[in-house]
Parts: sequence; structure tokens; C-alpha cells
Amino acid sequence: MKSKNDLKISFNALKVLQKRYLLKDEDGNIIETPEKMFKRVSKAVAGADNLYNDTDAYKTEKKFYRAMSGLEFLPNSPTLMNAGTPINQLSACFVIYIEDSINGIFNALKHMALIHKSGGGVGFSFSKIRPKGDVVKSTKGVASGPTSFMKIFDVATEVIKQGGRRRGANMGILDIRHPDIIEFITSKEHEGVLTNFNISTAVDDEFMNAAVNNEEYDLINPRNVKHVKKLNAGKVFDTIVNTAWKCGDPGIIFIDEINRKNTIPNAGIIEASNPCAEQPLLNYESCNLGSINLTKMVKSGKIDFNKLKSVVETAVHFLDNVIDINNFPISKVETETLKNRKIGLGIMGFAEMLIMLEIPYDSQDALDTAEKIMKFVTYHARKVSAELGRLRGSFPNFKGSIYDKNGFQAMRNATVTTIAPTGTISIIADTTSGIEPLFAVSFIRDVMEGEKLLEVNKLFESTAKKEGFYSKELMTEIAKKGSIQNIDEISGSIKRIFQTAHEISPKWHVKMQAAFQKHVDNAVSKTVNLPNNASPEDVKEIMLMAYKLKCKGITVYRYGSKKQVLYLNSYQG
Ligand code: CDP
Repeated sequence: MKSKNDLKISFNALKVLQKRYLLKDEDGNIIETPEKMFKRVSKAVAGADNLYNDTDAYKTEKKFYRAMSGLEFLPNSPTLMNAGTPINQLSACFVIYIEDSINGIFNALKHMALIHKSGGGVGFSFSKIRPKGDVVKSTKGVASGPTSFMKIFDVATEVIKQGGRRRGANMGILDIRHPDIIEFITSKEHEGVLTNFNISTAVDDEFMNAAVNNEEYDLINPRNVKHVKKLNAGKVFDTIVNTAWKCGDPGIIFIDEINRKNTIPNAGIIEASNPCAEQPLLNYESCNLGSINLTKMVKSGKIDFNKLKSVVETAVHFLDNVIDINNFPISKVETETLKNRKIGLGIMGFAEMLIMLEIPYDSQDALDTAEKIMKFVTYHARKVSAELGRLRGSFPNFKGSIYDKNGFQAMRNATVTTIAPTGTISIIADTTSGIEPLFAVSFIRDVMEGEKLLEVNKLFESTAKKEGFYSKELMTEIAKKGSIQNIDEISGSIKRIFQTAHEISPKWHVKMQAAFQKHVDNAVSKTVNLPNNASPEDVKEIMLMAYKLKCKGITVYRYGSKKQVLYLNSYQG
């Protein structure tokens, strides 16, 4: 195995690892180095090979260690934090069912608490809960409605704080036909409300058509499936648009598109997704994610597809092994997860890879590159999963799945790819998160009381040095301006390549999300950035565009609006 000195961990990565990932003793002293952390994780995950007689677990351990310590592949945070420890809960994503009864609601609350405590995030559909003011038979009272119950989940999350290592994250979803839909859509309008929730409305094709044509649609009481009243779909859609313009929430989930792409329709209908919406799941399913660092897949100015293929193979083996050794926080989650064995392999560092290839993010070339890479990753991930299925057995719901119908003989995992936000693991890998553009080329980070540190993107720094325009003064000026677009010393082609998230037009963000979605089994985490002076009409256009381009959902962020993106929390290293 590599020696300690081979591990190239950045200063920020080390800070994040020390604060939240490396094991500590009871007095809070760190008792692990990053190298030991990767060894702990590799050993624990490779251990699953011992359950089968098809591989050498020690060789596998070395393979996993090389991929992680080389920062070529990293699993989601719970795996890094918990593998090989007594907790051993390794998944980031869960969906829990909420039944319309006090017993059902508080059972779900307890499940959420157990999941948060072990480091996972939870998505819920609140659509089955009867509306506000509806009858409650046993007490002859009136029902409180889903939005009131969400507040209880929010407070519980605040108190539990995911085992103290990261803030709890939830996704609250409500069907567009629920009678309380307007209250739900506007529920995060005011500061400080439901701060531990991202919220999304689940909209179907019928609603979208009615919205575009300004027609009425039916609201249905989920308790007795009775029609309650009609609303104008165009107006409801405008309420979503205006509220998202104001505060970033709600997002939209295109539920029909999600179910059209459901690989296991034989197992049920999908109603919800995890907190950052990249992982639609059936009730009680969990999923573990992992991401390949694309900046490590570039050789002599080109994508090294041989290396990418080999890292995909290692990653799928790793993520599938995780399921075998995972300590599930709830037995029902274990049963449901093991039926489908979903994994979510994705990528990070896409924007930095484009810079290395000198491709502007907002170009056809970038969209083509996105499609080419993701098609390749999904193709090879499926190939490995099919082979693992042959050796170790297919996921139990294989019969009746799309794979079965398409002539596959075996498949280990019902899904193989997902684009995660990679909020923290991209810091550990020292690259841009997921498929997002650069956040900044140079910025000033507040370190500790009053102390400020100038940080320059490493690719920009080396370009500036190579082109001869590097100076600390210039980097500070750029950090203050937040942009290089009006700096005379910098050439047009460099300005074009180093565009940051807010300099890229919203439509290109959506196009990029759609390009990736074409080749991803699950969904794509993407924030569509809009300038502060964007109008609600702009937001509407973006949402309609996402629907038209077959995205599975959409989240917008207007610069300066008060959105609290949950995973951005991870950046507070
Ligand atoms: O980079 P990292 O593995 O920490 O996570 P991510 O890719 O930013 O987020 C992946 C998923 O982890 C989210 O969609 C949530 O389901 C979960 N998560 C969470 O539960 N709590 C957080 N504070 C951040 C993420």
C-alpha cells in the first residue's frame, strides 16, 4: 500500500476531515490519520468479498484503498465516517413512508430520528396525510394537515443533528392534488421556518398540461379519494414560480417522468426522493452513493477512458459491497433495500475537468462531453453490475424489471448511477462539486475571528502563472470583484473557460442537467443559478424548460434570495 507521504490532501480537506470524519476518542482527541481512515473504509468494505468465493478480499482492499487515497473515487460521507466502526451505517439516502394516522406519523418520526442519528438524510411524501380541517373519527376533532406535522419533523431534526457530525437533512414532498397544496408551497416563505427541509411539489403531466393551458384541475382528499374542489393550474404553477423566485423553495419533482424511468415498475410506484432530490426511491428504500473525481481522469489534455473504465469497475464493486456490510438503522429499510440493491455512482469535478480540456461550460462541446462521459459510466457500471449479478445473484426484484424485459440475464443492482451534490466529498477531493460550474476563481475565506485567507482556484493559479499575469494583488482584486470578466490583463479565451456559476446563463445550467439526466438511472443534483435581477417570468421559463427537456426535477437559486441549500452547509468546513 502507498505510504503516508503519497496522500495529497489539501488544507481544506484536512480541516473538514479533522472536524467530522476522522475517528475521535471519548475526550474528542483525533485518533486517526486520513490514510488510516481510507484503510479502515477499504478493509471494512472489501470484507464483503468474504461472503462469496469469487474474489480475493485482500486484493480488493488494496484496489479500494488506491482509488480512495488517490482521490479518484470517494463514497458518500456516511461510508467514510462510519465504515468499520460500531455504527457502520453507510447510506446517505432514505425514503420513509408516512401513513395517515398518529401512529403512522410518529413511527415515521422515530425512523427519521434513527436515520439522522446515523448520518443519513430522509425524504418523505406527506401526500397521504388528510388535509387541514378534515375529520378525525376517534376524537371527532379536526385534522392539522401535513404542513403542521412537517414542523414536528423539523424540530426533531434540529435536536438530533445527525449524530453531531452534520446537520440533518430532509425532503418534504406534497402531491400537487393535495387540498393543502397552497399552504405547502408557501410554507418556507418566512425566514426560519422548516430550515431542515428542502420542499418539493410532485407534479404530473396532466397538471403540467393544465398549467400551460391555464385550465382547472382537481384537488383530492387522500383519506377518501374524494374530489374537494378545483383550482386553476396556471395560478398554482405561478404560485410555485413566485415562491421559488422569492426563497428558492419549493422545487419541483416531475413524478411521471420519474416513474416512466423507474427500472423496477414491478416493485411499485415512486412517490418521493432523498433530501437533495438526486435519488428517487420507493418507500423504505435506502441508497448509497459514490463519485468519481473526473479531474483525475485527464491525461495529456484528453479524457483517459481506460482509466475511467477501471475506476468505474472498482466503484461499482465497492458500492455493491457496501450493501452487504451495511448496518441498516431500521429492519424494514433493510428488507426493502435488499430487494433492489440500488447504488448511485456519479461524478464530481466535471467543471474542473472541462477547464483542463479547455472547454467552456456553456458550450455544445461541454454538453457533448457530459453525454459521452455519463453514457460511458452508466454503460460500464451496468456491465459490472450484470457480471456481479451472474456471480453473486441478481437483486430479488429482477424478474419483471426493465433489465429482465430487455434480455439481461442477471443484474445485481436495480439502479447504478446518480449525480450527487458531493457537497463535502468534493472538498475532500479538492475539486468542484458534482456537475456544478466553478463557484469562484478567487475568493476571501473567513477563517477565524477577523482572520482572512485568500484562496485561488488551483487551475486558475497555474494558468495565471503560465500566462504571466499572476500577482497577489490581482488575485485579491478578483476575489473582491467576484469575477474576472472585466479584468483587462486576462484574455478572452481564459475568461470564457473560467466562468463561474452566476456568469453562466440559467438555460445552460438546465441544458447541462438534462444532458446528464439522459444517461443517469436515478436523478441529477443541480442548482440552476439565476441573477438577483431575474424575474419570476425567468424562473417560470426555466421550470418549463426543465420539464420539456425531461429532467426529473428542478431547483432554482436566485442570487441573494434567501434559500438555505441544505448541503451547502457542508461547506462550513
Ligand atoms: O458530499 P457528501 O457525501 O457529504 O454528500 P452530498 O453528495 O452533498 O449529499 C448526498 C446526500 O447526502 C444528500 O442528498 C442527502 O441525502 C444526504 N445529506 C444529508 O443527509 N445531510 C447533509 N448535511 C448533507 C447530505
